[in-house]
Formats: sequence, structure tokens, C-alpha cells
Amino acid sequence: MQVHGVETENFRLLEAQSVAFAPGVNVITGANAQGKTTLLEAVWLLTGEKSFRTWYDRELIAFGREEARVEGKFHAAGRDQKTELRLYRGKSRQIWRNGVKKRPSEASDALKVILFSPDDLGMVRGPAAGRRRLMDAAISQLRPGYAALLADYNKVYENKLRILRDWREKPSLLDPLDDFSESLCRYSARLIRYRASFARRLAEAAAPIQGEFSVGGEALEIGYSTVSTVEDPAGSEKEIFQAVWERQRQLRQAELDSGSCLVGAHKDDLVITINGADARSFASQGQARTAALSMKLAEREIFLQETGEIPVLLLDDVLSELDASRQEFVLNRIGGGQTLVTCCEAASVSRLTGGRVMYMEKGRVKD
Ligand SMILES: Nc1ncnc2c1ncn2[C@@H]1O[C@H](COP(=O)(O)OP(=O)(O)O)[C@@H](O)[C@H]1O
Ligand SMILES: [Mg+2]
Repeated sequence: MQVHGVETENFRLLEAQSVAFAPGVNVITGANAQGKTTLLEAVWLLTGEKSFRTWYDRELIAFGREEARVEGKFHAAGRDQKTELRLYRGKSRQIWRNGVKKRPSEASDALKVILFSPDDLGMVRGPAAGRRRLMDAAISQLRPGYAALLADYNKVYENKLRILRDWREKPSLLDPLDDFSESLCRYSARLIRYRASFARRLAEAAAPIQGEFSVGGEALEIGYSTVSTVEDPAGSEKEIFQAVWERQRQLRQAELDSGSCLVGAHKDDLVITINGADARSFASQGQARTAALSMKLAEREIFLQETGEIPVLLLDDVLSELDASRQEFVLNRIGGGQTLVTCCEAASVSRLTGGRVMYMEKGRVKD
């Protein structure tokens, strides 16, 4: 996949302009607050998704303006395509794909973009939620139905949690508790199978990337951790359900006592080791950051295997956090598809051996 260019009007601080991108590496450089991340945000919106920085479209409209427009041309699914997006202060966005009006819910199927930002740098050493987010976002893109399954799970989880918190004041709440628990276990079994299969592929794809990325060929291993009684998370849904349900029976009283949900896929995690040591506790900052990026690049690889197309990669402000040889890898050796990289320092840019450099100042792009 490739984004040929993006056109913006009243989009945050970006001037009304049209920016073209080259097929390989595009480096967008400039001082702080000049609009580099905003340009990536404009490209991201071509997917039809909500912004990665805000849920509210109105925040994307330039101060003092009533509406904004983002339009972009890209190559995906073997043909040139176009997305046009209009954002309004008072009403919902409108999207046209190749000239045909789309509902926002059905607009995110043409262009696939993977973003890596400073928030993701902490994914390896940070809380499990970040690693679950990586799995859930990737599987949702690859498996129709997964996002809906996850939403159903979360709904049941919220209901059950409310019961566990409030049953002392209102004992009648306990009546449907076991039904909710059973649903949660059933949904867990389905989520666990998806996640186990994704985690295995992620591990296979990420290991060689980390090896090449790091000096000395660090060994990256990724395992999937779920409800303790599940012996084979890739087994049949029925067996997984029975194992989860067994754990649920063991912990029913503990859940009532603690007022929290102790059993289910909401506690899943990825166990990451580098050279055999648990990365959460023992990885250096640089190793953990590299591993986080390797995992994102692995996600790109899996998408390629599934669809035959490489997603566009957006790397926001992550270069300065890597040492010289890792920067060199990012700029010159990721290869394959198209990459848009933002950074502040000229020193990082000087490591680029091919590709294109753009300079941003006050919301305007210059070559
Ligand atoms: N809706 C908006 N209208 C105008 N300017 C905005 C809007 N939203 C953010 N900005 C401005 O954009 C700047 C940040 O842009 P950003 O793309 O994050 O910069 P960079 O990535 O180059 O550091 C800030 O100065 C902020 O005030
Ligand atoms: Mg930025």
C-alpha cells in the first residue's frame, strides 16, 4: 500500500496545501509544534478511523473555523483509490471513498496504516493493557467479527463488575451473577483462541526483526498468557471454556469478597523475554523500545501474509529515543513498504541514505 499524497484545509494548524509522498521512506523534520504529527494524523484519517490523538473530530478543525477537509489518494487492493473526509463542529463527519458516500462505520476497509508513537515505546515494560491493545487492534483488522466479540465481552464484564461491587447494598443483584460469569467464560474462550493464534504468529514474525534490528542479534520471545487452567489456548473452544469455567468456580467466592472480576480474557498478557530474561523486569530501555517496534513491524508482516499488501508505516517521534545503529535500521533497512517518519534532529536525518526529506514550518511543508 502507498499513500500518494494528502490535501488539507483548515485541518488543525496545517495550511491549505497538498503534500506528496514518495514510495519508500519519507522523513518529515522540523522544530516542535510545526505540524509534523498533524500531517501523520491527516494520513491516518484516510483509513476512515477516528484520529489516534482524539475521539472528537471538532478538535481537528482549525481554531476559529467551522469545518475541515482532508483528502488523499492512495494505492490499495491493487488500484488507486481516494478518500475525502469532511469534519464539522456541530455534526458528524462525512466520508466519500472513490466518490461514493460511505457511512463512517463502513469506511475503514481500504487503507491499512500502522502507527508507532512515543506512547508505544513503553509497551514492553508497561502494563498489560498496552499489549492487549496491540493484539486487539491487529486481530480486529484481520478477523471480521473480532471487534464485535470484544465489545460484547466488555459489556458483560461491566455488568458483572457492577454486581460484584454493589451486591452488599443490594443482594438481589446476585441473581444473574452466575449467568454473567458463564457468558464471560464463553466469550473468553473465543477471544483466547484468536489471541493465541495471533500471539504465535507475532512471535514468529517479531524474532527475526529484533535479531536484525539489535546489535548482537538479541533473541526476542513472545508467549501468550491467559487463564491459568487453560492448558492449550489454541485448543477447541469447548475445552477452553471448560477450563476457564473451572477457574471461575474456584474463584467465585474470591470475586465476591474482592469485588472484582478475577477470571477471564481481560487479564490476558503477552510474556516477552529478551535473551531469556523477562523483558518487563530486565530489559534495558533501548532493548524494550526496540522490542516494541519489532512487534509493530511484525504486525505489518502478518498483515502482508494475510492480504498480500504491506500497510503504510507511520513512525512519530521515535528516532530520538533510539541509538545510532537502531536509527540507521529504522531509516534504511525496514524496507518493503512506505514509511513516514517524523523527527526533530538533523543528526537523525543525516543517517538516511535514500528516500525523501521534507521540512515543516508553521504548518507548511517544504522540500
Ligand atoms: N485545532 C487546532 N487548530 C489550530 N492549531 C492547532 C489545533 N490543534 C493543535 N494545534 C496546534 O498544533 C501544534 C502542534 O502540532 P503538532 O503536529 O503536534 O506538532 P509537531 O508534531 O511538529 O511537534 C500546537 O502548537 C497546537 O497549538
Ligand atoms: Mg509531534
